[in-house]
Amino acid sequence: MITVNYHKTCPNGQDLKLVINEQAVEVNESADTTALQYLRSNGLTGTKEGCASGDCGACTVMVGELNGGKVQFKTVNSCIVPIGQLAGMHIVTAEGLADQSGLHPAQDEMVACHGSQCGFCTPGFVMSLAAMVENGDPAKIETVQQGISGNLCRCTGYRPIVQAGMNALGRDYESRLQDPAFFKDTKSPSQGNVQQPLNESALREAMVQYPKASLIAGGTDLMLEVTQRYQHFERLIDVSRVMELRSITETQDTYCIGASVTYTELERFFAQRSQSLVSLLHRLGSRQIRNCGTIGGNLANGSPIADMPPVLICWGATVELCTSSGQTRGVSINEFYRGYRQTVLQADEYIAGIRIPKRSLDSFARFYKSSKRIEDDISSVMGAFLFQGDGSEITAARIAFGGMAATPVSLPGIEDILVGKTINKRLLSEVGEAIGEMMSPMTDVRASAEYRAAMARSMLERALNEFSGVSKPLVMELKLHA
Ligand SMILES: Cc1cc2nc3c(=O)[nH]c(=O)nc-3n(C[C@H](O)[C@H](O)[C@H](O)COP(=O)(O)OP(=O)(O)OC[C@H]3O[C@@H](n4cnc5c(N)ncnc54)[C@H](O)[C@@H]3O)c2cc1C
Ligand code: FES
Ligand code: FES
Repeated sequence: MITVNYHKTCPNGQDLKLVINEQAVEVNESADTTALQYLRSNGLTGTKEGCASGDCGACTVMVGELNGGKVQFKTVNSCIVPIGQLAGMHIVTAEGLADQSGLHPAQDEMVACHGSQCGFCTPGFVMSLAAMVENGDPAKIETVQQGISGNLCRCTGYRPIVQAGMNALGRDYESRLQDPAFFKDTKSPSQGNVQQPLNESALREAMVQYPKASLIAGGTDLMLEVTQRYQHFERLIDVSRVMELRSITETQDTYCIGASVTYTELERFFAQRSQSLVSLLHRLGSRQIRNCGTIGGNLANGSPIADMPPVLICWGATVELCTSSGQTRGVSINEFYRGYRQTVLQADEYIAGIRIPKRSLDSFARFYKSSKRIEDDISSVMGAFLFQGDGSEITAARIAFGGMAATPVSLPGIEDILVGKTINKRLLSEVGEAIGEMMSPMTDVRASAEYRAAMARSMLERALNEFSGVSKPLVMELKLHA
């Protein structure tokens, strides 16, 4: 283990306490200093900077949190996480994995499997593999693939790295990093430049006290303003620890998903409830992004290419909003977007949660994403389809698209054509033509208008064919050679 003398640079803020590679640290930085900047400027240069936008995984570190007396690790892109958000947590970098007894299994197997060539990506890959080992994940190819989905390698190729992951997960290993004692001095989160309210009333107080501060949840959109547009945030209010916003509650007919629920948590919750959503989530960002990015951030960001709004439109969701004085209102997801990157959210409002009628999940649903890469890529077109009926005749339909206009859109005109009809070639051709007439998609760096229109048509056709049983869902898998 390397011992580092960490320095403090911001005389105005308050110290926050965290642990870095088993060493207790007091940090005093400006609100938007990233964990990567902090680590590298304190000599921990094993963590690399590639893109500074969450895309390449070179900056991946492991973050341990104490949860119910147990330590749980997750990977994050340190280039887009403010160091202040990690108060009370244990950051483990490539320098902190090995100990006197030798390399961590993730490092050892990367060596044995020749998983590294130039080595620039290697610390990031090792951290992604190490987090899975620490959490005792199963030695399955899909697990390893998901775990490294946010790490790019330009020279070695992924097969030896996946093999290293499989071997590392298959090993007997006793971790020294899971000791809850590391957290003994770090219980109370910071009240410095990054406010960290733990419940809704503290959140509202912080919003009243600092009306100009920006809210941050996972930071996977917001922090790009810092690293790509050089914007500066004096103060941030972190909603990711607000208990009510982190929870998923259930009534007889509704699921209420807190705004700060992350995609990784959604994957777990919907594993037995909606395979269609889980398949989409596996294509949303990467493991690092899903560990931080939240459903509330996805909506509040107002992006027309966000993946969750089309799903929520199909499911008939309601967005729960609350002001800093505690006044609440529910807005249908169809009415949440006002224009390009504009929503109905007022300056002193936050998203508390999203209500989804349970019965929506009983219907046939398909959520398709078209992007240039399978993983870690923003959608060119995102299509969401929900049908009821007996498989040939449709009795109810909901269709929504992302990436086709300035806001996510629903298509009641197509739904009207479909309802009461039997699925056959003539119907497919009728709705295919109608969808072309109803939508005038945009051309941008991701896709041309023509491509988007063709994609929307083929997604609709595919969903209808899968509903009627003419075709089966596509499943892609990677096999390792023996
Ligand atoms: C590499 C990479 C890949 C990505 N891939 C995808 C993808 O495949 N699909 C996709 O849809 N998105 C993707 N994104 C975008 C992003 O991850 C998502 O939009 C994510 O859901 C944002 O959530 P967050 O918690 O990180 O939001 P933050 O960045 O914390 O916040 C985003 C905005 O929402 C506001 N906000 C956050 N929470 C609240 C709240 N409770 N109430 C009011 N305002 C709030 C913030 O003030 C900010 O303006 C990607 C981003 C990156 C960097
Ligand atoms: S530097 Fe590329 S993801 Fe952080
Ligand atoms: S080893 Fe060179 S980028 Fe992966």
